[in-house]
Amino acid sequence: MISELISNIAPSPTLSLNAKAKEMKNNGVDVLNFAVGEPDMDTPGNIKEAAKKALDEGHTKYTAAAGSIKLREAISKKFLNENGVNYSSSEIVAGSGAKPLLYAALLTLCNPGDEVILAAPYWVSYIELIKLCKAIPVFVEAKEENRFMLKANDIEEKISDKTKILLINTPSNPTGAVITREELERIAELSKKHDLYVLADEIYEKLVYGVSHFSVAGIDDDQKNRTITVNGASKAYSMTGLRLGYLGASTEIAKAVSNFLSNINGNPCSIVQEAFIEALEGPQDEVSKMRDEFEKRRNLFHEGLNKIDGITCTKPNGAFYLYANVSGKFSGEINTPSKFAEMLLDKTYIAVVPGEIFGTIKHVRFSYAASIETIEKCLGRLKEI
Ligand SMILES: Cc1ncc(COP(=O)(O)O)c(C=O)c1O
Repeated sequence: MISELISNIAPSPTLSLNAKAKEMKNNGVDVLNFAVGEPDMDTPGNIKEAAKKALDEGHTKYTAAAGSIKLREAISKKFLNENGVNYSSSEIVAGSGAKPLLYAALLTLCNPGDEVILAAPYWVSYIELIKLCKAIPVFVEAKEENRFMLKANDIEEKISDKTKILLINTPSNPTGAVITREELERIAELSKKHDLYVLADEIYEKLVYGVSHFSVAGIDDDQKNRTITVNGASKAYSMTGLRLGYLGASTEIAKAVSNFLSNINGNPCSIVQEAFIEALEGPQDEVSKMRDEFEKRRNLFHEGLNKIDGITCTKPNGAFYLYANVSGKFSGEINTPSKFAEMLLDKTYIAVVPGEIFGTIKHVRFSYAASIETIEKCLGRLKEI
């Protein structure tokens, strides 16, 4: 009785893996969980206070579907000051997380059979969202020897008369790769040359180490009009459970996205909208602290993993993931990332995400949303296998 469309959709595998690790932990096993996709730091206090205040002040009613004007003005300022993109408030739509906005954006632009070009390794939800639009994902390998950075030349080979969107995720989940400004400019050129849209998922923009994040939409007005920039509160402000995402796009696209969301979801939570205004406009020192902590962990974990026989790992410039090549550890039955991850969980109680779900066959993803102590423990256990 389940429709063809929905029965083809896989549940989010990272969420289910995480659930398994949590269950083992609840049963008393000393699990080291590196499968998580959310910062382990608490939501900053000023943001929590703003949420409480919003409730007390009666922000409990419907707002505009795209989010209150006050929220969209705050996001508009953020885009201008931090990304150099001049989106007016009518070019902004807020929603209940980046996920539904990515879906709404894809559905707004894609007709069945249209092609969406994206990097492999890819964030797993993209594939399900593209399938839900009856569009077709077309993969471009982001090569390990290029530190998983997507290259414009490799993209161009995959462009066909069906291509509608170039989907760019920088910094990347699962590799942490940050695409350079120069390469993004080349990719933007391609979108102009072939008259394509760019869907830029910038949700990890604040977590970059030693490099800068660059927004494609900031290049010029033409690029801005053919780019949908998606971002959110989850990773930048450790607000994953509060569900607040947003996008910037041309007025025409923003209006269509908002029409769609107004029917299926309505506005994002009114309390969280107020909390996110505080996140954007209040002090940013917690964000820098979080970033600094992640950088320390990245350095320690990256160096440690490369000292383990059979494991190699490129040094990522962003997000909180290490995409380690573990094929040197394959032997006998243990010859895939999934089997390796299963063995790791069974023998060492270390939970990681196997690379097959991100489209590669030699890697596992370690999230370093875990304390230094947990990372050191993990490195110790990995020496034993
Ligand atoms: C690349 C990427 N985009 C979007 C999201 C979704 O974020 P949100 O919590 O805002 O739905 C995630 C979450 O894991 C992500 O990794």
